[in-house]
Amino acid sequence: MRPTGRLLGLCALSVLTQGARSISLSVNPDGGNASSPLLYGFMFEDINHSGDGGIHGQLLQNNGFQGDSPNLTAYAAVGDVSLAVDFDNPLTSAITRSLRIDVPSGTTGQVGFSNEGYWGIPVDGTTYTTYFFMKGKYSGEVTIKLVGTTSGIEYGKSTLKVTSGDKFSEFNTSFPTTRAPDGDVLYTLTFDGAQAAGDSLWFDLVMLYPTTYKNRYNGLKTQIVDVLDGVKGSFLRFPGGNNLEGASPSDRWKWNETIGPLEDRPGRQGDWTYPNTDALGLDEYFYWCEDMGLDPVLGVWAGFSLDGGGGTPITGDALQPYIDDVLNELEYILGDSSSKYGAWRVANIGRTEPWPLTMVEIGNEDNLGGGCASYPERFQRFHDAIKGEYPQLRIIASTSNSTCLPDPLPEGVWTDYHNYNTPENFYNEFDFFDNVDRSFPYFVGEYSRWEIDWPNMQGSVSEAIWMLGMERNSDVVKMAAYAPSLNLVNSTQWTPDLIAFDQNPTDGVFLTTSYYVQQLFSTNRGDTIKEVTSDSDFGPVFWCASSKGSMYYVKLANYGQDTQALDVKIPGTTTATLTYVANDDPSAYNSDEQHIVSPVTKTLSGNGTFTFTLPAWAVAVLAAQ
Ligand code: AHR
Repeated sequence: MRPTGRLLGLCALSVLTQGARSISLSVNPDGGNASSPLLYGFMFEDINHSGDGGIHGQLLQNNGFQGDSPNLTAYAAVGDVSLAVDFDNPLTSAITRSLRIDVPSGTTGQVGFSNEGYWGIPVDGTTYTTYFFMKGKYSGEVTIKLVGTTSGIEYGKSTLKVTSGDKFSEFNTSFPTTRAPDGDVLYTLTFDGAQAAGDSLWFDLVMLYPTTYKNRYNGLKTQIVDVLDGVKGSFLRFPGGNNLEGASPSDRWKWNETIGPLEDRPGRQGDWTYPNTDALGLDEYFYWCEDMGLDPVLGVWAGFSLDGGGGTPITGDALQPYIDDVLNELEYILGDSSSKYGAWRVANIGRTEPWPLTMVEIGNEDNLGGGCASYPERFQRFHDAIKGEYPQLRIIASTSNSTCLPDPLPEGVWTDYHNYNTPENFYNEFDFFDNVDRSFPYFVGEYSRWEIDWPNMQGSVSEAIWMLGMERNSDVVKMAAYAPSLNLVNSTQWTPDLIAFDQNPTDGVFLTTSYYVQQLFSTNRGDTIKEVTSDSDFGPVFWCASSKGSMYYVKLANYGQDTQALDVKIPGTTTATLTYVANDDPSAYNSDEQHIVSPVTKTLSGNGTFTFTLPAWAVAVLAAQ
């Protein structure tokens, strides 16, 4: 874990010069190595409010008063009433706190509460649905509004008739909205104060959803999914990262507390400073994968938390309950309705077919923080138990450090190698995978340029060099994911991130230079890596070529201030497009305040040879046929 704040990128003066001479590349159309079809994908955990307040569609903050320090964050009274977090009137045994509203005698008019969402509420003009639980003697109308915090403009409203008594009852209503110009919107729930004067009413698990991605109940926010989908990734690794591990064993991500009705999910104190509602739970992750066509990579807890040795690593007999728990989780995912946990899945979501899980990662970064010495034992025991029940599953170790792995490593295991690095090191590590032991395939489950505020051109070009090194070795590098993927700009625990966002419903998603690099590389994939001969050495220009059918892709990175003239020979091709992201200032970046780098596409023609100039600090793909 390495939290950062926002730092300012260094400004560099740019003096452009032409590279000394033209670089000639010649792609051999014959032969080549098979490329991994899964190479580019996503790593996701709830960090930077990427889940709650981010890609998950529920828009109200603190709706179940979860986490270690329950309080009234995001709430305010509407009218002359007082609000309190009530510990004596739980909604369920999972949601143990509720919102109590004390209504003074003599109250008249509309009173209730507001919720400001996660630093605002995006109102996008679709149909919105609110759900809430209410308790206390009341028979009358409840009015829901989405209203501009400073403007007072109403973007949506619904009034429903409710009767509530001494037990919690659930209510819901759907209503049309008009698009708000920004995220500065409040949710208000009010009722007739006269009806409740001198009494208290309780509310809990108040939820608000826009029309979600693929219209799923408890689904995802379309605006963010669409941008992620633009990368056309192949897999999703979840639920962490550090957020799988917990501050201590009892704080770990517990699969069985993230499924079923939302009122049965207690949530937890996440590892990134804020409570997690777990409304984005195990089944929701699988729906996400299914809807976006991603192969799930499930991380399971492996007896190691972030407490630096306080309660973990857990070894010996004490580990068995956690191994059993993972087997139960896998039965929930893969079992049929005749199995105990498979039947639980069917009862929860009505899905009789198993989820299409093929890859399980045991733990997270077990090479760090005192986990290494015990990981050979822990890994082997989880591995054997899982393979004993589910031999078809691919098992991934959470580290590729051989001193932390059993010797020999069981057949078929992939290892996870994380690489947060400086641009200089990414440059120098271009050939890292040329030189690894090829008998153990790699999953690069997390990487990015680190210690900077926003991805910038120099960092993104250096990531591209690292990616070229992976792609040309993608017989042995099976999958790779930039991390972290998402960042609500109002709640940042880690920078840089691939995609940033706020709650503006129209232009509240900010595409970084690294996003464009991921998109360029992932959307231009061959299935065979081709041999390239050149009259020049690698650096400052790097390349990798691939093909699929009659299409050829030559990926290029220019890590330098000079523009570079190139001619690329690909026998049998006649037309090509050159798409690049570039800026002559290596510190140029996109952010929530500026968007100065965008992809540029040019059409080229050539009779088997394409001649063009690569700009300074550029990442490019030549797609030819
Ligand atoms: O991506 C942020 C963190 O970096 C992950 O949670 C962890 O696995 C790594 O240390």
